[in-house]
Amino acid sequence: MIFADLRDRSGLVQIVFNPERAPEAHALASDCRAEYVLEVEGEVSLRPPGTENPNLATGEIEVLADTLTVLNPSQPLPFAVADDADVDEQLRLRYRYIDLRRPKMAQNLVLRHKVVKHIRDFLDAEGFLEVETPILMKSTPEGARDYLVPSRLRPGELYALPQSPQQLKQLLMVAGVDRYFQIARCFRDEDLRADRQPEFTQLDLEMSFVDQDDVLDVIERLFTSLTESLTDFSVDKPFTRLTYREAMDRYGNDKPDLRFGMPIVDLSEIAKSSAVGFFRAAVEGGGVVRAISAPGAAEYSRRQLSELEELAKSFGAGGLAWAAFQGENVRSSFARNLGEGELDAIRDAASVQDGDLLLVVAGAYDVACNVLGRLRNELGARLGLIDETRMAYGFVTEFPYFEKDEETGGVTFVHHPFTMPWEEDVPYIESDPLRVRAKAYDLIANGYELASGSIRIHQRDVQQAVFRALGLNADQIERRFGHMLRAFELGAPPHGGIAPGIDRLVMLLARERSIREVIAFPKNQSAADLMMGAPSPVEESQLRDLGLAVLPPARS
Ligand code: AMO
Repeated sequence: MIFADLRDRSGLVQIVFNPERAPEAHALASDCRAEYVLEVEGEVSLRPPGTENPNLATGEIEVLADTLTVLNPSQPLPFAVADDADVDEQLRLRYRYIDLRRPKMAQNLVLRHKVVKHIRDFLDAEGFLEVETPILMKSTPEGARDYLVPSRLRPGELYALPQSPQQLKQLLMVAGVDRYFQIARCFRDEDLRADRQPEFTQLDLEMSFVDQDDVLDVIERLFTSLTESLTDFSVDKPFTRLTYREAMDRYGNDKPDLRFGMPIVDLSEIAKSSAVGFFRAAVEGGGVVRAISAPGAAEYSRRQLSELEELAKSFGAGGLAWAAFQGENVRSSFARNLGEGELDAIRDAASVQDGDLLLVVAGAYDVACNVLGRLRNELGARLGLIDETRMAYGFVTEFPYFEKDEETGGVTFVHHPFTMPWEEDVPYIESDPLRVRAKAYDLIANGYELASGSIRIHQRDVQQAVFRALGLNADQIERRFGHMLRAFELGAPPHGGIAPGIDRLVMLLARERSIREVIAFPKNQSAADLMMGAPSPVEESQLRDLGLAVLPPARS
């Protein structure tokens, strides 16, 4: 008897080749190897009692083969088709079609399909219209470099691939589409990370005659229903809402993981008059003294504590002060210098419990928030505080409009330059841009930014003021954005929208750590397609047609 596992998209089934039942098929089967492509005719029958395989969906049945045709033999594979095989990612990417045969990867494709289908069905029922927008278009600023495509018919001129369909979806609102969405491919030439690819997919969405709450309401209902119907995550309801300032104050970053507590607390009031010199100095120098309290970490050893301090320094802190509270016993790097009652005051302010380790950073506000936010994430994971069954969605609102641009000395936008400023801040767009607040919002989940969106500018004069604040002159504004300004004068409704990243969403729902696991054919960390070999040189004649010449790469 020969037993073979035959795999298709739905899983495995056992084929039994019995020399008495089908001698020819049996003889052929003895020459078959892994990954041969077979056609089998036979009888589906229950497995003999005691030989069922409870680990397999088809474990109760088998196929008793009558005939066998080898449709295609296979060479030995570069790696095994098994979820637990530890295979180098570059090799997986080179042979992605084999990698995608692994059950986990095949499931990820199915999940992604279901997510997109759920989105389409949900938005269709809400009256949204799916509209495709071009891939060859004009540059739109989203803060990354463009991918450019030369034009043969207009030598010397180039298209840009869309960093997002931002301007086109706004123009669809001017066109009267009212409720638009698109599963849209976006292209950005930027540094890659586990949650970034040079081409990725957004659920791009825009609505007319809305304010922030209308957009957030659609998103909250959509994300709740898709998470609850497609996964076993529990969804926090309603979604937590935080202003940008609250997020920075409490969690030290604008995409906090809300699955655990450990908020940052401010000790500056106490530190101001502290007997500890560096506490006082930080506040006197315009900085802050802030802390987090890590539950159950009071028993950390000297070595663990100095490792945490090194970590804090690598995040940019000057140092890390600590106090470990175990019953009456307090070990601390600074407590012996504290004045009367100060330790109790700190303990109260930081709501320290017995067994907690208090970690304190003194310094500039930005540095203290950033360092404590990153320590919080690190300790949340190390101390097992993260509830992996939860999908903790939240909205972050009230972002600043502009930030300092270190390169130019001027300002640059935080979200994008089509975002509406708060009405009361409009007069300050040019005179005092850093005080302007944006009607912008993010959707976050489990420590990731899933989506950004905003209410948009729909008046020409406000849009022009923003471009001027960004340092563009009249000529540049006309050349790059004249089409938007004209549209705003020809019956443009107020509008707003948002764009969740589909890759990041599916990554979280699939419990993966990289978006490459949920993209059929991703690029590697250096933006290369290893399977097909892209990018690659092209024929000289193709370059000639385009009027292009390739310079030798600059030596670094
Ligand atoms: P933004 O640039 O914030 O906003 O992008 C929105 C969401 O798209 C996803 N995303 C990415 N995913 C994978 N790889 C990347 N390189 C990448 N870059 C972005 C993220 C992000 O939250 N036009 C605006 C949206 C709007 O205002 O409506 C925009 O594109 O999940």
